[in-house]
Parts: sequence; structure tokens; C-alpha cells
Amino acid sequence: MDVDKKDSIASDSSDQVVNPWEVSAKDGGKIDYDKLIDQFGCQRLDASLIDRVQRLTSRQPHVFLRRGVFFAHRDFNEVLDAYERGDKFYLYTGRGPSSEALHLGHLIPFMFTKYLQEAFKVPLVIQLTDDEKCMWKNLSVEESQRLARENAKDIIACGFDVTKTFIFSDFDYVGGAFYKNMVKVAKCVTLNKAMGIFGFSGEDHIGKLSFPPVQAFPSFPSSFPHLFPGKDKLRCLIPCAIDQDPYFRMTRDVAPRLGYSKPALIESSFFPALQAKNGKMSASDPNSAIYVTDTAKEIKNKINRYAFSGGQDSIEKHREIGANLEVDIPVKYLSFFLDDDTELEHIKKEYGEGRMLTGEVKKRLTEVLTEMVERHRMARAAVTDEMVDAFMAVRPLPSMFEYGTETG
Ligand code: TYM
Ligand code: TRP
Repeated sequence: MDVDKKDSIASDSSDQVVNPWEVSAKDGGKIDYDKLIDQFGCQRLDASLIDRVQRLTSRQPHVFLRRGVFFAHRDFNEVLDAYERGDKFYLYTGRGPSSEALHLGHLIPFMFTKYLQEAFKVPLVIQLTDDEKCMWKNLSVEESQRLARENAKDIIACGFDVTKTFIFSDFDYVGGAFYKNMVKVAKCVTLNKAMGIFGFSGEDHIGKLSFPPVQAFPSFPSSFPHLFPGKDKLRCLIPCAIDQDPYFRMTRDVAPRLGYSKPALIESSFFPALQAKNGKMSASDPNSAIYVTDTAKEIKNKINRYAFSGGQDSIEKHREIGANLEVDIPVKYLSFFLDDDTELEHIKKEYGEGRMLTGEVKKRLTEVLTEMVERHRMARAAVTDEMVDAFMAVRPLPSMFEYGTETG
């Protein structure tokens, strides 16, 4: 079925730019996600799909689904149709190891992927694109490999099940079956098309041009002969933020020509910067981001000093008209990370009607994030080098579709 006629079409023809390297919008930096769905040609993740997830998994959908953090998809309905018939799928997500520590935005796809792995009881492959960051960030081969292993610890700390998860670094794993699929993909993409999708120009080095097939190939089961031998029809579902969509538009465009299924996608909006000036929290400005390594004091200071407030300038005015929740970062952050729906609604009502002040909301946010980061810090401290080796070993996963022990 060829519903996505736009799989291969360039996306930067309008006033907002969203691609793996740049997220920017015209009016005040606010991304228009409805427009993005149109621009990219993906589908909206609606309430009926979320109800279906609840029925199929017999558990409450993750808050990221209930609150619309994951808001777009491609063929997720087909993956659920197949699952309902008893056909499983596998999950694929990844990380470009460009910095020592992850920020909270990076945790979102991994927290969500852990939930999907548990709820659907399916295997997962996680790609660490050390080759990508070596080429884009001008890191040495050794440094990007080191960062990949450090980042793997943060990823493992999210609680993935080692009996169902394969983490790999491109520098280590590419070759063999993987390389064959890369070359097949590369042969289907012309220079003109790559320039259209990714915005490459004549001044970019050829390493960048050669990378997109690398991010594409984990979408095909035959790239993992130790995991999915003879299972060439297994569907792949990719959770990621929508900045990664260009890679997978290209992947979906070429898949039928190679005789492969198109990967399905489930895509999130961006966790915004503290100042909310640009579309997404990004690692390049330390004061715009909260890292999983920040101390309680740093978190408190960053929230108090930098988190953009929708509260009014004077208490009198605030009591009278209340906070503008649309632009308020503390409320936005709470809507990602405060699990309790009732408490969130209460805060929105009290703050929006001026009975609660910005300081109180920031205090609650500080508690929520400090607790989360503290939990992550403890989980990460427990991750040993042996565990990283275990997750990264090229090995079969015999019970990858079975109900297993659930970790942390
Ligand atoms: P990277 O390391 O830039 O980001 C890792 C994941 O985090 C998402 N993300 C965010 N999500 C919400 N809010 C934010 N502010 C935010 N910033 C980043 C990214 O979308 C991504 O899902 N090239 C990729 C690595 C990769 C990959 C993949 C990602 C390889 N294969 C398949 C997704 C799916 C990268 O450098 O991601
Ligand atoms: N390209 C992504 C980045 O620049 C990293 C990445 C690789 C990734 N594979 C992925 C992200 C799969 C999400 C899902 O950050």
C-alpha cells in the first residue's frame, strides 16, 4: 500500500525547518506540529489508536501517549493490525553520541521505547551512530567510540531488558549483512534526492552523503542475521523525535524497491529548551538544557533562572488574570514528567487562574526533575562495563518475544 506519496519529498520548502541537524521556526520559534504532519506527510496519532494500544497491551498507555508527546506516526496502525493477528515486530531506535551526557530530551524516546518493549514484549535494537558524530562533530574515531560506550550506560540505565535488547556501535558492527543492506540502499538514492531530503550541498564532505543508508539499514531485519534469521518479513517500529523523520522518509521510499517492508514510525514532539526560544532542548547551550548529570542544586538554579514563565509581572496582575499556560515552560515540563494526571490538572487550573504562583510551580518541577535525575544517576552508577559488553555482544536472543523478567 503506497499511502505516503510524500515519503521522498523535501521538507524545507516552508518557513519552519526540522531535520536531524536543525530545528527552527519563524514566529517566536514555536513549531507548528500540525503543519509538520502535512509537510512530512505522516499521520496523526489519534485517540482511537491509543485506545487500541491499551486494549492490545492490557495496560494504561504511557503518559507520552496520553498527553500527545508522541503525536505522529507512519503505519503504526499496520503494525498493530499484524500484532493483533499474532505477528510480532521489533523496535529500533538510536542515539548519536555527540556528548558525554544525555539531556532530558534525549531520554524521551528511550523511556518510551522501554515502555513499548515491556508492553508488547518485543525485541529492540539500539544504534549508536559514532560514525555520524565523528563526521558531523569533527570528533576523532576513538573519542566518538568512547562517547558511544558512555552513552550506552545512560541508555541501559533506562531499564532495558538484556534478554531482548541489542545495542551496537556503527564502528563495531557495520560490515557483513549490515554493509550489504547499506550498499543496496545507497544504490537507490541519487545525489539530487539526498540534497533534497537532507539539504546537503556541494561543500559537504562525501562522508556525510554516505551516512543516511547507515541509519536506514537497522530498519530491515536481514541486517541482523544473529537475531532474525529467516524472518525477513518481520516489521520494524521506530520510536524517535520527529527530527529524525528525513532518514526514514528516505528508508521508506527505497524499501519496496529492495523487496523489504517499510519501517513504521512513532514520532514525538520536542522537549523544549528552558528559555523556550527554539524548538528543542539541545546540547549545544548548557544553560538551555538539563542533563542527566546535573546536581540537585544545578537543576534548581537552572529552573529558577532560565525556565521561561507564563506568569504575570506583578502578583496583583497574576492573581487577576492568571498565568499564560501556552508559553509556560514549567507547566510544559510537568506535562512530560509528572505522571499524576489529577495533580497536573490541578496545577494547570490553579496556576492558570492565578491562585498558584510561578515560584510554587517551579518548586514542584524542581522536585519532579531532581527525583527523576537522582533515580537515573543511581541506575547509571549500577551499570558496569560487563553489562555494556553484555548488551553489545553480537548474540542470538532466544527469548526475545517471550514474557521475561522486567528490569528496573
Ligand atoms: P540524537 O542522539 O540526536 O537523539 C537521540 C534521540 O533523542 C531524540 N531527541 C529529542 N526528543 C525530544 N526532545 C528533544 N529535545 C530531543 N532531542 C533529541 C532524537 O529524535 C532521537 O530519537 N542520528 C540519530 C541516531 C539514530 C536514530 C536512529 C534515532 C540512529 N538511528 C533511529 C532515532 C531512530 C541521533 O543522532 O539522535
Ligand atoms: N541520528 C540521531 C542523532 O543525530 C541518532 C540515531 C541513530 C537515532 N539511530 C537512531 C535516534 C534511531 C533515534 C532512533 O541524534
